Amino acid sequence: MAHMSSPGAERAPWTPMSWRDRHAEQQPDWPDDAAFEGTLKTLSSYPPLVFAGEARQLTADLARVSSGEAFLLQGGDCAESFEAFSADSIRERLRVILQMAVVLTYSAGVPVVKVGRIAGQFAKPRSSGTETVDGVALPSFRGHMVNDIAFTAAARVPDPQRLVEAYHQSASTLNLLRAFTKGGFADLGRVHQWTQEFVRTSPEALRYEQLAQEIDRALRFMHACGLDHESVPALHEVDFYTSHEALVLGYEEALTRRDSLTGDYYDCSAHMIWIGERTRGIDDAHVEFFRGVGNPVGVKVGPTASPDEVLELCQTLNPERIPGRLTLITRMGADSITDGLRPLLRAVADAGHPVVWTCDPMHGNTFTAPSGKKTRHFDAILAEIKGFFDAHRAEGTWPGGVHVELTGDDVTECLGGAEDLLDDDLGLRYESMCDPRLNGRQSLDLAFRVSELLRG
Ligand code: TRP
Ligand code: MN
Repeated sequence: MAHMSSPGAERAPWTPMSWRDRHAEQQPDWPDDAAFEGTLKTLSSYPPLVFAGEARQLTADLARVSSGEAFLLQGGDCAESFEAFSADSIRERLRVILQMAVVLTYSAGVPVVKVGRIAGQFAKPRSSGTETVDGVALPSFRGHMVNDIAFTAAARVPDPQRLVEAYHQSASTLNLLRAFTKGGFADLGRVHQWTQEFVRTSPEALRYEQLAQEIDRALRFMHACGLDHESVPALHEVDFYTSHEALVLGYEEALTRRDSLTGDYYDCSAHMIWIGERTRGIDDAHVEFFRGVGNPVGVKVGPTASPDEVLELCQTLNPERIPGRLTLITRMGADSITDGLRPLLRAVADAGHPVVWTCDPMHGNTFTAPSGKKTRHFDAILAEIKGFFDAHRAEGTWPGGVHVELTGDDVTECLGGAEDLLDDDLGLRYESMCDPRLNGRQSLDLAFRVSELLRG
């Protein structure tokens, strides 16, 4: 990573376009620049997907995480798909996050901030610009916002019309999420009904069923005491926020709007956006774009990040040290977390930066199984989370959350877990377009393990 500037060095004034003067990693090679810019113009005339006030509410919620009073649960697909776009698919993803949230809230007694990787997670960074199969090289798949996954020359051409489709799918997804989370689906009186059919007979399900019964009993108790459940919104509604990796900067720029209340700019494509491990160069375009928007922002931090690099990111992205503004999402790998994390925790604490620390236990633990499938082992995921908690306990900092790739469906993408999925099983239902996700059972199991660590 280049280091042209030192922390606090003067930068030219920020505008929604100032990223264009910098080097942007991982941008698609659009075949027709005029068509791409025309599409951005169209998008910039469309209504925002979220409102500035909602993003500020999330910053306030995350401020409670940064001070150790709440826990962040962020999860969803590695990459959303234009094909898996239905009410069922949206509801199932929400359902598993609500189940995990209720386990964490009830067993650990800590408020949980719920953020989906959803309604905009359509762009993927790639390690190589091309993919070669049987001697044929084609542009890599970069997510449905850019091109299609089929291995044909036509499918792999970046098509700006996909940006518009991503916008519309995000809008519909968000619309349904708002209806579900405010319209009764998230009611604590329904915790039983969130259990999916295929989970029902597993050990995690029995544990969950017990917890649901206790919650029912508590609700009946409150009712008997005269508290009318219907009149308390906190019991039947949740605040659910959206997030994605803001990778394709033209799209994010087109959805950036000035808030009439404060005069500040917000990227209205999602409540929270994050910068990936591959695009966090301090002088590069992504950091430049992110520093000027008012949303809460995240940065992925891998095992090679030095304390100085992390401090530069804190200083550039959150110079005013606003609690909740910056989330550092560590993705070290189970083997690196023990030695890798503590120096970073110490440096940030010593500098007095109020960050949210959250653990992505997925991306540092990915490998290719003998079957050729990209996978992760449930034990490695747990080991990284445990290492994350240990490092925070040792440094006296707050292990603020987890960031996971999951689905409510009965997929076979990650190894291990209570059903002990083996390499041979991966072929059964491997549906991810990109990285392997935890299935419904593994996600629930993870929530129980994390709540034990939180209590411990
Ligand atoms: N509103 C509270 C919260 O979001 C309690 C709650 C209602 C809840 N429905 C929920 C918690 C579903 C988790 C899952 O925490
Ligand atoms: Mn991923």
